Amino acid sequence: MGVFTTSHEQVVYCHDRPSGLRAIIAIYSTALGPALGGTRFYPYASEDDALHDVLDLSRGMAYKNALAGLDLGGGKAVIWGDPDKDKSEALLRAYGRFVQSLGGRYYTACDVGTYVQDMDTVAKETRFVTGRSESHGGAGDSSVLTAYGVFQGMRAAAEHRWGSPTLAGRRVGIAGLGKVGKHLTKHLIDDGAAVVATDVSERAVEWVQSTYPQVDLVDGADKLVAADLDVYAPCALGGALNDETVAALRAKIVAGAANNQLAHPGVEKLLAERDVLYAPDYVVNSGGVIQVADEIDGFNFARAQQRAGRIFDTTREILQLAAAEGVPPAVAADRLAERRMADVGRLRTILL
Ligand SMILES: NC(=O)c1ccc[n+]([C@@H]2O[C@H](COP(=O)([O-])OP(=O)(O)OC[C@H]3O[C@@H](n4cnc5c(N)ncnc54)[C@H](O)[C@@H]3O)[C@@H](O)[C@H]2O)c1
Repeated sequence: MGVFTTSHEQVVYCHDRPSGLRAIIAIYSTALGPALGGTRFYPYASEDDALHDVLDLSRGMAYKNALAGLDLGGGKAVIWGDPDKDKSEALLRAYGRFVQSLGGRYYTACDVGTYVQDMDTVAKETRFVTGRSESHGGAGDSSVLTAYGVFQGMRAAAEHRWGSPTLAGRRVGIAGLGKVGKHLTKHLIDDGAAVVATDVSERAVEWVQSTYPQVDLVDGADKLVAADLDVYAPCALGGALNDETVAALRAKIVAGAANNQLAHPGVEKLLAERDVLYAPDYVVNSGGVIQVADEIDGFNFARAQQRAGRIFDTTREILQLAAAEGVPPAVAADRLAERRMADVGRLRTILL
């Protein structure tokens, strides 16, 4: 994918040879405000792979931030390297100086391979960073509101499908009991749902056995997909929904935290053909970005939680729009995001 064949506003290569920093910052859109998106630190096989990832991820953030109701555009950064071997104070601070050099067009945060402590280090060189540790006035672990938002999106899907916004009495399958999956398990159990789960990590399995002995465990995501479920919640890696899993799926709703759940374009149509209601991933998992975005104004948990609660209304609106226009929910979500970017972004043409 070449930069000029996409619609990105700006792509910046950042290189600091002594510290080993090789980063790419991509700004997809600033129509709604400064671009916000995390920094992924990952050992890509090639520079092309890194560019491809950052272009995809920054576009996704523009859509996610737009539907989260944030006055923020979409951006993302990748640092090409192995976080376990290559991360150092000098490298992170060099990266922070490049973020600062963009003058506020891009705000960074955590992503795969970067943590709140890393953002504290980046913050020594730039004001345009969020997702810092609580001791530095940051929002802390974003999985808390991510899980809360997924639960709200799932409630809206339940209402659309079964007429009532609750998971009480439903069987919900969670693939991935990580940071988000754990919080989601609690929300569902508190709501009266029966939870079935799977995880490849022994530690995660032991955690659920000791914390929620009523949770049924199955061995592997394939078994979970084929289990007798009302709702399937992918909360591990991307690509959970492909031709095979959609064919095997028995749940009537899919709503989960994982990013990029649709393995390829067209899966959203397969889901619709099988009458599976799909609550789009980037809509229901936006609680995390809502949490870190709140930090820009001085973090207030109650305010951030209230904003994340609106994921219920947004999901409901998307499902209704999809039904009215006869398109899959993923298409309706994209249309709504594009509409907000155009309608609200256009207001800047009114000279102040
Ligand atoms: N944490 C957030 O705020 C946030 C925000 C938005 C989206 N997400 C997305 O949600 C997903 C979960 O995030 P997280 O923060 O909980 O990550 P995490 O790394 O804490 O948890 C992921 C869990 O999935 C398990 N897992 C991995 N492969 C698996 C497999 N094949 N089958 C079953 N389990 C498997 C891991 O063992 C781990 O317990 C990710 O896709 C992430 O990108 C997270």
